[in-house]
Amino acid sequence: MSHLFLIGFMGAGKSTAAREIAESLGRPCVDLDETIEREASRPVARIFAEDGEDVFRALESAALETLSGASPSVVACGGGIVVRAENRAALKRLGTVVYLKVTSGEALARIGDAGSRPLLAGASGALAATTLLQARESLYRSVADITVDTVGSTAAQVADTVVAILAEKGLE
Ligand code: S3P
Repeated sequence: MSHLFLIGFMGAGKSTAAREIAESLGRPCVDLDETIEREASRPVARIFAEDGEDVFRALESAALETLSGASPSVVACGGGIVVRAENRAALKRLGTVVYLKVTSGEALARIGDAGSRPLLAGASGALAATTLLQARESLYRSVADITVDTVGSTAAQVADTVVAILAEKGLE
């Protein structure tokens, strides 16, 4: 099997679930935001503040492309990976895509202080979460091979569910 990508809104639990799934499957775990931060030598929030979202999106697309040719990994993607059509094509081309679904309310509750999420920071964070999730929902669904609802589950339970579905489909 090729890469396993976890996509979904901020707060869906992608990074934690990816680590657990990678451990279960004995595969490397890649967190795309961490890859970008390493390459840029700055946290995501600083990249947004200093260079803007477009520069961040270009770094994100470049980080995704570096995975072609890498050994099959479990990849936690940033919540906005689906915004660019080229990224949606790359996800489909490079592996199996798992959409971890969350509501905007639950996402905000899980995130708490949104200081590290520039798109949700500030007084209008709740409205931004609702609007962004609404705009992205169809994009997440358009690339997903598997969808798992995370509301009411811990990231560990979500990881177990994903591993069970992969086994059932012969994709592990
Ligand atoms: C973003 C999600 C973040 C990070 C950046 C932009 C988004 O990742 O990539 O702040 O556009 O939804 P997480 O989904 O891991 O929080």
